[in-house]
Amino acid sequence: MGKVLTIASGKGGTGKTTLTANLGIILARHGKKVLLVDADIAMANLSLVLGMQTSPITLHDVLLGETSIQDAIYEGPEGIEILPSGLSIESYRKIDSERLKSIISTIKENYDFVLIDAAAGVERSVLSALTSSDQVLLITEATPASLADALKTKIITEKLGGHVVAVIINMLRNEKGELEKDEIMKTLEIPCYGEIPYDVEVRRSFYDKKGNPVVIRCPTCPASKAIENIAAKLLGGEVTMETTKESFIKRILRVIFRK
Ligand SMILES: Nc1ncnc2c1ncn2[C@@H]1O[C@H](COP(=O)(O)OP(=O)(O)O)[C@@H](O)[C@H]1O
Ligand SMILES: [Mg+2]
Repeated sequence: MGKVLTIASGKGGTGKTTLTANLGIILARHGKKVLLVDADIAMANLSLVLGMQTSPITLHDVLLGETSIQDAIYEGPEGIEILPSGLSIESYRKIDSERLKSIISTIKENYDFVLIDAAAGVERSVLSALTSSDQVLLITEATPASLADALKTKIITEKLGGHVVAVIINMLRNEKGELEKDEIMKTLEIPCYGEIPYDVEVRRSFYDKKGNPVVIRCPTCPASKAIENIAAKLLGGEVTMETTKESFIKRILRVIFRK
């Protein structure tokens, strides 16, 4: 049976959609059957990031009970499948996002991985996305504001009975003042599945009219390599938190020697 993962952050613009699209493609390259679900039902843009046309039938129609799930699934690049969201504000208002959970449980057995791209914030559709999966992956930038929102998302997910398994740190610039991986793991009390550098090729892919995600456009770029490592973790099983057991002295020494 398929593994269902929600990619969430609390804060907008942290890279949820980018990670969902690129991770999906890498998992497909490993021979996995992958479905990407755009659960950002207000600001749907997963299919745009994948260079796909607007879709006539979407998750909106499925959530409204107006169509079958199969009719809303489309083929994307490299064999991945996509359940896109619609752009109609009218249907967005009428949607019962609670139905997402039953939709996911109906289709998950057809896939090895179902990746759910959550929206920012904590409105109802986000809560549904957080609780429709087996596991939640948080993505954060190395800033206090982004980390605070990730922590809020973790607390809410756990209150709702969801399971947050790991954090991914995105858009690292190696600048002074950025939070360290250890600090982020300790704050969230979860392991880190990977650090993705700020990579201008990711942004170029975003504006590329062909909509080729970075792992297609530039497979050897630093961000693509980092996403490959995250996929390897998802394929290889659990990761522990052992790197957080660093002593205070060791930490000071590391700062002094900049290691
Ligand atoms: N590692 C990265 N390096 C550079 N730009 C990135 C990176 N990750 C995401 N971005 C850019 O940040 C913006 C927001 O990303 P997006 O995936 O849409 O965020 P979210 O879905 O969390 O709102 C996009 O322009 C995207 O190209
Ligand atoms: Mg998004």
